[in-house]
Amino acid sequence: MAVIADRCPHIDVTVVDLNEARIAAWNDPDINQIPIYEPGLEAVVSRTRGRNLFFSTTVNAAISSADMVFISVNTPTKNKGIGAGQASDLRWVEACARQVAQHAQGHTVVIEKSTLPVRTAAVIKAILDTPQRKPKNNEILPTFSVLSNPEFLAEGSAIRDLEKPDRVLIGGDDAAAVDALATIYSHWVPSEKILRTNLWSSELSKLISNAFLAQRISSINSVAALCEATGADVHEVALAIGTDSRIGSKFLSAGPGFGGSCFKKDILNLVYLCRHFSLPEVADYWEQVIELNNWQKNRIAGLLVQRLFGTVTGKRLAILGFAFKADTNDTRESPAISISLDLLEEGAQLAIHDPKVDPSQIARDLKKSQSHSSAGLNGEGTWLFSSTVVEAVQDADAVLILTEWDQYRELNWKELAKIMRAPAWVLDTRSVVDPVEITEAGLHLWRLGEGAD
Ligand code: UDX
Repeated sequence: MAVIADRCPHIDVTVVDLNEARIAAWNDPDINQIPIYEPGLEAVVSRTRGRNLFFSTTVNAAISSADMVFISVNTPTKNKGIGAGQASDLRWVEACARQVAQHAQGHTVVIEKSTLPVRTAAVIKAILDTPQRKPKNNEILPTFSVLSNPEFLAEGSAIRDLEKPDRVLIGGDDAAAVDALATIYSHWVPSEKILRTNLWSSELSKLISNAFLAQRISSINSVAALCEATGADVHEVALAIGTDSRIGSKFLSAGPGFGGSCFKKDILNLVYLCRHFSLPEVADYWEQVIELNNWQKNRIAGLLVQRLFGTVTGKRLAILGFAFKADTNDTRESPAISISLDLLEEGAQLAIHDPKVDPSQIARDLKKSQSHSSAGLNGEGTWLFSSTVVEAVQDADAVLILTEWDQYRELNWKELAKIMRAPAWVLDTRSVVDPVEITEAGLHLWRLGEGAD
């Protein structure tokens, strides 16, 4: 919405939420305090906020005055009831649709921005088409068009992705509404990149796009394990296959497993849909992408334990990176969570560093508070946040790199080796260290996807 406001100064964009604290944070006079860390976002918000971008809690008034309403609420995986663990929880989408139906005036275009299961637009339409209020005096009841306009941005590169999208997808059968939305994007997106489809193709394409991306990561991670076993090198294999233009070179970096708010949730959703439509083979096929990802995360913790003579109980381990990828403070589904939990289960003393993630978030993710005592005597795993890499690495038996932050590429391993407990290990799941530097510093190195000679 900030980018739309930036590119279309003639359009007023009002972002509304029931959560007062969150809206207050978006209105914070100190632009550094806005609640999401995203490169370039501060600049866009400071250009537009108060000009034609507004953050407000007056939801009903904003709906009444809007020509278009984007529904952008979260759709987490259901944790109970029918479809628990797989289906999307649509209660907020439904609540929004009801509120829009009640307060809209005239003709309103309602746009699904949240990622939704296929045919959700039918639910939204059914709600919107049922009069939610009795007409007062000669009032003409509102009318609606429903469009699907999924978002393909990735965190960390969100502003770039929005300003130069590969494509914008608009699904819908009301040509006038589709045109109206396309006109907004056409202020900065070339028209050939604005794709028009029917509603169901648009909804499904978002799920499939994420499923394909996640599938590539699971594929390359499975190959990484095979490389380690055979003496091949996953980077060389990725280069060799990626130069085939039919395969392409992107999204072929092996790592500790994919995280983020979308991939797992969307595949689970897809799996649920396939089962619902009696396509169990298709469901099993996609489910395997998640199973491989879980296996990869477990494998990393196991490999570390193996390197440290089969036990990490009471040993200090430095975890570098907790965000699910670099350039974000987001930890949702971060592989660092399950890997840390596995190591805590083994009784390790974790010193966790991340340049952007707040320690309180780590405590929530691990469901465990920090331990400042030199505990571990009873074999219980503990963790502590380190504000610098040096602090994390001090006295550690091993350093485990889980997020590809740039600053981890420039570490002085000669100095770090001096403060570690020998024989010390560096386990690099993101290929950010220079192997020569590590071995010259007298450290043992394990890199994901590289077989021993
Ligand atoms: C993803 C999609 O890219 C985006 O189009 C969609 O709108 C939302 O979901 P995001 O979750 O922000 O975006 O991050 P992305 O860059 O796709 O990375 C997801 C995960 O895959 C991260 O944990 C990342 O580290 C991992 N990854 C990505 C790899 O392990 N290897 C790769 O080659 C690429």
